[in-house]
This record gives sequence, structure tokens and C-alpha cells, in this order.
Amino acid sequence: MVVRSEFGVLLPECVSIVATGEDRPVARHWPLEEAVIKHVSPERRVEFRTTRECARAALEGLGYTGVEIPCGAHREPIWPVGVVGSLTHCSGMRAAAVARSTKLRALGIDVEPDSTLPSGVLDVIATEREVDMLPRLRSVDRTISWDRVLFSAKEAVFKAWFPVTGQWINYPDCCLDIDPVSGSFSAHFVDDFRRSGVSAKDLVGRWSVRNGMVFTAAHILATSLDEEPH
Ligand SMILES: CC(C)(COP(=O)(O)OP(=O)(O)OC[C@H]1O[C@@H](n2cnc3c(N)ncnc32)[C@H](O)[C@@H]1OP(=O)(O)O)[C@@H](O)C(=O)NCCC(=O)NCCS
Repeated sequence: MVVRSEFGVLLPECVSIVATGEDRPVARHWPLEEAVIKHVSPERRVEFRTTRECARAALEGLGYTGVEIPCGAHREPIWPVGVVGSLTHCSGMRAAAVARSTKLRALGIDVEPDSTLPSGVLDVIATEREVDMLPRLRSVDRTISWDRVLFSAKEAVFKAWFPVTGQWINYPDCCLDIDPVSGSFSAHFVDDFRRSGVSAKDLVGRWSVRNGMVFTAAHILATSLDEEPH
């Protein structure tokens, strides 16, 4: 298991991150977690267990030992009180990131292969403005699958957003601006989301592409104040 990993450069120091590219047999099975994967494929079971082990290792970095991490009603991981966190997995990568809620209000991570999205997916996930942004991004770097960066960043935003607001975000509800040079992105939500008390302008988004994978992370500092009018 790798501490910090590629996500390390995308998130503040207060975040404990553990990732791995390998699935190994786990030493212990956790009943609430096993209940979630009772009827899934062997591949999904292994992916789930390895990612949960990354999460436990990351929690140890904050001083929490032997913590079970069940799933909420909307598939969100349930963290110990006082912790925010996020999980991601794709072929060749499982990762967990956690932080004390005194430091971060929200945290989301995502990893994807650096390959063009399957046909038709961009039409579903991107707003018109985001589609218009893609040629500009390609003119800066043609080697990066920018549509995948956009998709991954939206997933990271959702994973940060949902646990604090309990609000589902449909893809067109959220519009991202990706900066191809600084490795950052920002989010704008439709007006309704302001009611949640969390402001999109406080969300810090970062992305990187390494070793054939897209890494994205989104966080909101605990000190951020919602100053937008409601
Ligand atoms: C839930 C979702 C974000 C997962 O993303 P993904 O790229 O398919 O998969 P990843 O492997 O990166 O992440 C999966 C992990 O996300 C986490 N997750 C799932 N639902 C979640 C939620 N509601 N809130 C926070 N985290 C969640 C889980 O930990 C899950 O892993 P697990 O099932 O092993 O515990 C995605 O499937 C989804 O439903 N998206 C629709 C909502 C959305 O993204 N709207 C647009 C935002 S602009």
C-alpha cells in the first residue's frame, strides 16, 4: 500500500491517503461490509475489500484503528464521527482519502483510465459549456483524454458533495471549468444547490494524469464560509 500516492499532490497535507494497485487476501472480514458484497461478483468483492483496507489504513493515519466502514442508503461510505472521506477504484488502482472534519468539510476523490469516454457518455455528462471547453483543453495538450478528466472531476465533486448535503447532483446540474495549465478545476451549480448551505465557490478541485490514469480530487476547507446569498 502506498501512502499519499498520486492523490498526495491534489489534496492538502491534513488528508490521510492510502492507495494500492494490488488486491491481496484480507486478514479479517467485517460483518457490515460483508453484508454489502454478499451477492456481488468475485471481482467486485475483491475490489470492495481492498479499497476498504486502504480506508482502514488511511484512518490509522488519523489515529483511528479497527474501524468498520459500512455503506449508507445511497452507497456512500459511513465514516467515524469527526471524519470525512472518499473512496475510488478502477482497474489497477484502489484508493481512500480521509481527513478530520475540523480540517475539511468535504472530500471526494476519483480515478479513471486516461482513455476517451465510451461513445455517447459525453452527451449525458457534459453541459454545452463543458463541451465547448474541450477543444481549448486539447489545444494545450492533445495527449490527455479531457473528456475523461471532466467525467472524473464530476464524480469527485459528487462524492465530496453528497455526504455533506444529502443532495443528488445530476450531471447537467454541475458545470466545471478545467484549467489545463494549473491542474485545477472549479465548479458552478444551478441555483437550487445554494440552499444546501455549502457553496460551490469553496470547492477546491485538482486533477492530474499519470501512468495512464486520471486522478481528480475535490475538497472544501472546514474554515470556508458560505457567503453566497440564499
Ligand atoms: C457514485 C459514483 C459517483 C461512483 O463513481 P464511479 O466513478 O462509478 O466509481 P468509483 O470507483 O470511483 O467510486 C465508487 C465509490 O464511490 C463511493 N460512493 C458511492 N456513492 C456515493 C455517494 N452517494 N456519496 C459519496 N460517495 C459515494 C463509494 O465508496 C464507492 O465505492 P464502494 O461502493 O466500493 O464503497 C457514480 O457511480 C454515480 O452514481 N454518479 C452519479 C452521480 C454524479 O456523479 N452526478 C454528477 C455530479 S456533477
